[in-house]
This record gives sequence, structure tokens and C-alpha cells, in this order.
Amino acid sequence: MPQTDTEPKKELTVCTGQSEIDKRLGGGIPMGSLVLLEGQSDSGKSVLVQQMTWSSLQNNLRILFYTTENTVRSLDKQMESLGLSITDYILLGWVKIFQIKSTISMRDNAFGTIVKGIEAHPEYKVVVVDAVTPFIAHSSTEEIIRYFEACKGLCDSGKTILNVAHTYAFDEQLLIRIGSVCDAHLRLRIEEVGEKLVKVLEVAKIRGADKNTGNIISFDVEPGMGLKVLPMGRAKA
Ligand SMILES: Nc1ncnc2c1ncn2[C@@H]1O[C@H](COP(=O)(O)OP(=O)(O)OP(=O)(O)O)[C@@H](O)[C@H]1O
Ligand SMILES: [Mg+2]
Repeated sequence: MPQTDTEPKKELTVCTGQSEIDKRLGGGIPMGSLVLLEGQSDSGKSVLVQQMTWSSLQNNLRILFYTTENTVRSLDKQMESLGLSITDYILLGWVKIFQIKSTISMRDNAFGTIVKGIEAHPEYKVVVVDAVTPFIAHSSTEEIIRYFEACKGLCDSGKTILNVAHTYAFDEQLLIRIGSVCDAHLRLRIEEVGEKLVKVLEVAKIRGADKNTGNIISFDVEPGMGLKVLPMGRAKA
């Protein structure tokens, strides 16, 4: 149940609420970070940001959630199926979910709509965009960089913005440029371990936590439980 105290606690981070993962993230993503979370299809990008959304709501942070993959109802159901119910928070308006049709092109200025939406909700400190892939596919390199720089400006004034993307949306050069604008860069992939496929999260970059950069976490997704860390994850020495 939501707590009645609406003041965020001190020194908050955006974290998953799963201690093993948060430890490898250096205690979580510092507030005010611009985050890029990229990976292949089915690698767990959406589940990871859903887990962070749920955990942030538990910490009294308000969330703007832009989705190209769900409706309000389907996102609510999806999170419920992971044991991360946000129904009460939706009803309280602590999480605002905006569906952006994935067919929208830059002519409709999806990036501008998101930036304006963030500016219009100063009390919503955490923003999730799952996923920016369709907008990237329809934008020039300059438009993409301009969007990430606009996000960076908002993060410098206290927002934490998590942009989710499919890796195939970027060429190598663009990924390097965007990675350098972002404060945190998380990479997800699927790896074969023995006969099993496991999801792997690599912390490519995280602000203020150099020693955690390079950390690798293997995990799976459990119905009713969300993320489950697998023992084969290896921390950088
Ligand atoms: N409630 C659930 N119970 C069990 N498995 C789930 C549940 N929700 C998601 N999963 C599984 O978690 C995995 C990762 O899903 P997720 O949607 O996070 O991937 P993604 O990287 O966002 O993929 P896409 O690129 O298609 O958006 C999938 O294999 C999915 O089937
Ligand atoms: Mg997804």
C-alpha cells in the first residue's frame, strides 16, 4: 500500500528493490541521472524498468511512464503478474502512464511531446520511456542527440530519466555518442549458459560508482516475483 508520507526520503536512488542487483549498481542509480538501458528483444529491459518503477513508488517518488509497448491496463496487468502491483498508485495519480503509439513519427514530434510532458510535471522526479526505439528509427542523428541533450538538461535540474532502447536502433557511433551524454548506461543481453538461456545485465557506466562499472549480473524473470538473480553473475574484482 502507498505510504501517506509523500516526502521522498533522503539520498534516494532509483533502484530495483532487489538487494543483490542494487549492490552491483553501487546502491542504485543516483537521482538526477540520465540513464540509457539498451538490449536485444526479450532481454528484460521492460521488466527491469518495471521493477525500478515499483521500487521508486515504494520510496514515495512519483513517476511519469511513457510506453510504446503497453496500454495503461496492460502495463498494470503485466506488473501485477510480476508481483509488482501499481494499481493503487495509478488510482492515486502517483504514476502517470502515457501510451505513445509506436507508429508515431518524428513529424508528430514524439521526442518533443515527452520533453514537454516532463517539464509540465515538476513533482514527478522519475521518468521512464519504454521504449524510444520507434522514435529513433524515424529521427536523424541530430534529432536523437538533441533529445538526449534535452533530457540531460532536465536531469541536471533533478529529474532521473530512464530511456529504454533496442540496441539495433543505434549504429556504433551513435551509441558511443549517446552513451557519453548519459550518466548511466546499462546493457542487457541474453546468453547461453549450459543448456539454459539467461539474461545478463552489464553496468557499462554509472555515475559516482566507478568501481561498479563493468559489473555483470545474471538474472531470470519469475512469475509473481519479478527479477531473480542467478548465482553465475560475476562481479569485477
Ligand atoms: N509475469 C511474467 N512472468 C514470467 N515471465 C515474464 C513475465 N513478464 C515478463 N516475463 C518474461 O521476461 C522476459 C523479458 O521480458 P521483457 O518484456 O522485459 O523484455 P524486453 O527486453 O523488454 O523485450 P522487448 O524488446 O520485446 O520489449 C521475457 O522472456 C518475458 O516472457
Ligand atoms: Mg520491452
